Amino acid sequence: MDESSFKADREFARQLDRTDKLANLRQAFVFAEAELIYVDGNSLGRLPRRTVERMRAVVEEEWGRHLIQSWNRGWYEAPARVGEKLAQLLGAAPGQVILSDSTSVNLFKLVLAALRLRPSRSHIVSDVLNFPTDLYVVQGCIHLLGQGHELELIPSPDGIAVDPQLLLHTIDEQTALVTLSHVTFKSSFLYDAAAVTERAHQVGALVLWDLSHSAGAVPIELDRWGVDLAVGCSYKYLNGGPGAPAFLYVRRDLQKKIESPIWGWFGQRDPFAFDLEYDPVEGVGRFLVGTPPILSLLALEPALDLILEAGIEALRQKSVQLTSYLVYLADTILAPLGFSLGSPRDPGRRGSHVSIRHPEGYRINRALIEEMQVIPDFRPPDNMRLGLSPLYTSFADVWETVDRIRRVIEQERYFGYPQDPLPVT
Ligand SMILES: Cc1ncc(COP(=O)(O)O)c(C=O)c1O
Repeated sequence: MDESSFKADREFARQLDRTDKLANLRQAFVFAEAELIYVDGNSLGRLPRRTVERMRAVVEEEWGRHLIQSWNRGWYEAPARVGEKLAQLLGAAPGQVILSDSTSVNLFKLVLAALRLRPSRSHIVSDVLNFPTDLYVVQGCIHLLGQGHELELIPSPDGIAVDPQLLLHTIDEQTALVTLSHVTFKSSFLYDAAAVTERAHQVGALVLWDLSHSAGAVPIELDRWGVDLAVGCSYKYLNGGPGAPAFLYVRRDLQKKIESPIWGWFGQRDPFAFDLEYDPVEGVGRFLVGTPPILSLLALEPALDLILEAGIEALRQKSVQLTSYLVYLADTILAPLGFSLGSPRDPGRRGSHVSIRHPEGYRINRALIEEMQVIPDFRPPDNMRLGLSPLYTSFADVWETVDRIRRVIEQERYFGYPQDPLPVT
C-alpha cells in the first residue's frame, strides 16, 4: 500500500493485518503472553513452535537415546547441512556457507585471512556505524599482526547514514579490506552492497560483509554481487535462539588460496584419523574449529525452514510496509512529543528495524518494559530501537507500540526510572 494512504488509527492498522498475506505465520511462533508486544530490535527473534518440538526430539532421542551415535546420524554434517539451507537466503550456491562459532570469532578468522591475501596493502576501510565488535576485531588483528595496518573509519554526520561517495572514494589501491555491516545496528542504514563490492574489486581490495541485521529480513545475493567474505549471527531475524552459532561465507574461488588462522581439528581433512600434522579440508569447512554447539545449531533449522517457506521477497515486502508504517506513525504522533527519526526515510536504504530518538530514550524504554508490556531495546545515546519481524510483527503491534509510547510521555511514566542503565539494554 502507498504511504500516502496510511492513517494513524487502530482500525486502519487492523485492516492492514486483514489484507496481510503473511499474517498467518504469526501462529508458527510461541506467544506466551498475548498482550506483550515484542519489538526488540532485533537482538533475539521469537521462538518458533516447530523448534520446541525439534528440540524435544533432539534432546530426548538424539542425545538421550542414541548418545554418541548421533554424531554419525547427522550431527557431524550439521554445520554444512544447515549452512546449505541458510545459503539459499544469502544468494549463495552450495559449498560456501557454514555455521560456526560466534560472529566475532568468524570476523577474526576472516579478517586475518583476508589481510594475509593482500600482504602489500595496509588499509582497512570501515565506518563509524559498524557494530563495535567488528571494529574491535579489526583493531585486534592489526595489533596481532604488528605490520602497521591502518583502520580508516568513514564518518556519519547524522549518525544515520554515511556518504556513499565518500566511502567509494576512500577505497583505493592501498585498501586491503573493506568491512561493513550490510544493515547498521543502530540506525538500520542499508548499504548498496553490490556497489561497494564492485568498487573494492575495481582496486583489488577484498570485501567482508556483516549480515547480522539483514539475514532473514533483506534479500541478499552474495554470489551475484561477487562478495568475497561474509559473516552474521543467526539469533536475530533468523530466530535461531540465544547463543545460536554464527555463519560465515567464503566465495568458492577464494577457498583454495585462503587459510584459516585457527587450525582446529574440525577444519582438518579427516579429524578422526588423528593425524598430528594439520592438513585442512578443501572448501569453506576449513574455517570450522572445534566441536560445534549441536543443540543450538539444530535449533536454527526449523526457523530457517519457516523463512524459506515464506519466501524472502514476500518477507521483505512486508518488512518495508511495517517500517514505513512505523515511520509514518512516529512522524504523526511522536515527533510533536520530542522524538526524531534515527533511521533512513528511504525504505530502500533501511533494514527491518527503526530507531526513534529522544533525549529520555532510556527511561522511556524502561517504562515501556516495566509498565506497558512493550519490549523495545535501547542503544546509546538516545536510540529506541524497534525491530519489526515480518514473520510475526503485526501492523496492530506497530500501532500499539506507538500509542503506548505516546501514553508513557503524556502520563510522564518515565520520570520514576533511574538514568543509570541496566547491564543489558
Ligand atoms: C552487526 C553485529 N555484528 C556482530 C554482533 C556480535 O555477534 P556475536 O555476539 O555473535 O559475536 C552483533 C550483535 O548484536 C551485531 O549486531
